[in-house]
Amino acid sequence: MGPLPVSQLLLALISLTVALDNGLLKTPPMGWMAWERFRCDINCIDDPKNCISESLFRDMADRLVEDGWKELGYEYVIIDDCWMSRLRDEQGRLQPESFRFPGGIPKLARYIHDRGLKLGIYADMGNYTCMGYPGTTLDNIEIDAQTFASWGVDYLKFDGCNSNPVEQMLGYPLMSKALNATGRPMVYSCSWPVYQGGLPPNVNYTLLGDICHLWRNYDDIQDSWDSLQSIIDWFSNNQDDLQPIAGPGRWNDPDMLIIGNFGLSLDQARSQMAIWAIMASPLIMSNDLRNLDNSARAILQNKVAIGINQDPLGIQGRRLLKEKSQIEVYWRPLVGSTSALVFLSRRTDMPYRYHTSLAKLNYDAGNYRAYDVFGGSLVKGLNATTELTLSINPSGVVMWYVYQETQYKEETETLHRAKHGHHTFL
Ligand SMILES: *[C@@H]1O[C@H](CO)[C@@H](O)[C@H](O)[C@H]1NC(C)=O
Ligand SMILES: *[C@@H]1O[C@H](CO)[C@@H](O)[C@H](O)[C@H]1NC(C)=O
Ligand SMILES: *[C@@H]1O[C@H](CO)[C@@H](O)[C@H](O)[C@H]1NC(C)=O
Ligand SMILES: *[C@@H]1O[C@H](CO)[C@@H](O)[C@H](O)[C@H]1NC(C)=O
Repeated sequence: MGPLPVSQLLLALISLTVALDNGLLKTPPMGWMAWERFRCDINCIDDPKNCISESLFRDMADRLVEDGWKELGYEYVIIDDCWMSRLRDEQGRLQPESFRFPGGIPKLARYIHDRGLKLGIYADMGNYTCMGYPGTTLDNIEIDAQTFASWGVDYLKFDGCNSNPVEQMLGYPLMSKALNATGRPMVYSCSWPVYQGGLPPNVNYTLLGDICHLWRNYDDIQDSWDSLQSIIDWFSNNQDDLQPIAGPGRWNDPDMLIIGNFGLSLDQARSQMAIWAIMASPLIMSNDLRNLDNSARAILQNKVAIGINQDPLGIQGRRLLKEKSQIEVYWRPLVGSTSALVFLSRRTDMPYRYHTSLAKLNYDAGNYRAYDVFGGSLVKGLNATTELTLSINPSGVVMWYVYQETQYKEETETLHRAKHGHHTFL
């Protein structure tokens, strides 16, 4: 498009304050997204099982329902880039590539809704999507929002390739308004911060929280421990800026869970689940649910880890300590004065025996119990000064759910929900 008319710029600026406060995502979203595992595989002739097509999303919806994911809260099935035709239709609407989506998006949405799941889709604020498909320029925002609503979409990931900062400043709030104006409650995931370096003052997180439900702050995750570590470090190093802005309806998004793919060991997979739970991150898997080994499944379906992630207070956790021994300690406060601790080893030698006490981690005097989230055992009779020795595997974690013995004679709400399999953790 040409230079921006000044009137349009002013109009957008004065209406920036509109909120997309439609009550969605009181806890971080859970589900499945195509990108990290299936990328832009559009070759349905040679690779029919793995190409971006309606059958891939139907397969994943089937697995979510039949393999116990849905009842744990994994409910969004999200299409990423490469679903579109290279051309808009005669009315200027986006359309799916017809060979790969012969039934169209409304039919896929019905399939997903019929199974009690929700459908997410992808668009890009800019001239083209990151992979070169039609973008949503400023003049197309309204029609695209209307199209998605008419198809029954429940969630929009709005990427930002091929746009400039001024277009992004206008486009992200405008899409928020346009989604709201459709009358269909939709989750709005904004990639805007990634394109602005992810930090204040370039990024105004107060504004983001008003107009989006979640936002990608940093680089795309890749299928490796290196990538995962760089993400954990970036979010922790910048936690003073990022931690306070998260809360019900407004989440930082460090990107997809890669557990069940090729790049992580068993310990590293637990580390991702533990840190994502501490950081109140979206639990959006990108893996092949049709071929998942039991250890990956057990980690992703760990009810206490999920319960911690979905805690109703929605307070993002923090890195408390970064020891010379390369042990890091993370902490998250949870409902009912309970809390979660994660001890992460960045070592590369052997299990490390880490000595600490709850008092050293700022816990008040009192008698505590700790549930070992991945070990499955309960540690009783702790007080704040009890000396603890934890054995933490290289690139692995020990994750504890901690509560006061006096306060909970039997079990806490989080453990109760975990044991009795409630559908949501609200
Ligand atoms: C639109 O925004 C208003 C005001 O924040 C909110 O009450 C309403 O639920 C929103 N509707 C949708 C469909 O997003
Ligand atoms: C988008 O396309 C317009 C029109 O061709 C062009 O002027 C503009 O520079 C492009 N923007 C970006 C960020 O590529
Ligand atoms: C950030 O956005 C909020 C909400 O729109 C606004 O009130 C505030 O002035 C902005 N802050 C800065 C530094 O621009
Ligand atoms: C805490 O527990 C230790 C044993 O683990 C015990 O020696 C100590 O007296 C206890 N302290 C308090 C204040 O109860």
